[in-house]
Amino acid sequence: MDVFTLATNRKSNREFAKREVSADKLQELKEYFASCPRLVPDIDVEMLILGGDASEKLNACVGYHRFLINAFHYIVLLSDVDEHYIENAGYIGEELVLKLTEMGIETCWETIADEPLLKKRLNLSGDKSVVAVIAFGYEDAGLFARLGIKSPAEIFLKKKPGAPTPKLTIPQMFYDDEWGKAETISALDPDDDLYRACAATCYAPSFLNLQPCRLIHDGDKIVLATVLDDMTDAADAKLNLGIVMMHFEGTVSRQSSGFQGWKLEALDKDYKLPENAYLVGYYQL
Ligand SMILES: Cc1cc2nc3c(=O)[nH]c(=O)nc-3n(C[C@H](O)[C@H](O)[C@H](O)COP(=O)(O)O)c2cc1C
Repeated sequence: MDVFTLATNRKSNREFAKREVSADKLQELKEYFASCPRLVPDIDVEMLILGGDASEKLNACVGYHRFLINAFHYIVLLSDVDEHYIENAGYIGEELVLKLTEMGIETCWETIADEPLLKKRLNLSGDKSVVAVIAFGYEDAGLFARLGIKSPAEIFLKKKPGAPTPKLTIPQMFYDDEWGKAETISALDPDDDLYRACAATCYAPSFLNLQPCRLIHDGDKIVLATVLDDMTDAADAKLNLGIVMMHFEGTVSRQSSGFQGWKLEALDKDYKLPENAYLVGYYQL
């Protein structure tokens, strides 16, 4: 999978056609899920693919303020509850999003507003937690519906052909050595592995497009930090982190021979983070 190209071209779709994805394509997705990279490979994760009357089941359980984006299909990820299981689900979910993008299928992450009700509607009784929901299917009539957010309680769809949702640039998202210090990555050759990985990271989807992650280039490490805000709950904040880690690692590791992975532990070093931010982990370059 060419993660860089897929990550920089993906966008959320919110107008889906009433058209089924073929059984062959669903099978390809299942096979990809079985073998795709994971952030914490030891955690058992299951994927359900819903179709048909799925929207009725999910209605009022998922979506910003329970505003469901209707699609023909949904991915539901169930996970054992273990350390970093939500970040792991974010990482795997974004692998699946980019796989679907590669297959010409549109996607939209959906926040889980009421997990107990969702479990009940889906008849899920086991111990696994429902960690992620992603709507997918084909775009309707080429109209790109943008999400309008007047306030957290006032969310609506603007149905017009639109520009992609704005994204932070490398100088806005990355620092050198410590929080706030201007980065030098954007001076690298655009074909450089690190430049491409950082650019792909800027395109990561995030809850309400708040883009809370910041990355600090510290010598041979990329250190990940995130800002807390009043609108994003703990689960969505962790999904955001998994998605960002997937974009970075998927671009850097699949172009170079070294694959070291993210270490989900904070380095004992003062990166001069503001009070509302915390360290998540680091990637050894
Ligand atoms: C954890 C998470 C939850 C999200 N929940 C919703 C949602 O409930 N409804 C929705 O329309 N979009 C949802 N999104 C999609 C974001 O709004 C979208 O990624 C963001 O606005 C950036 O736009 P883009 O994906 O087109 O780049 C979610 C994204 C993430 C990462």
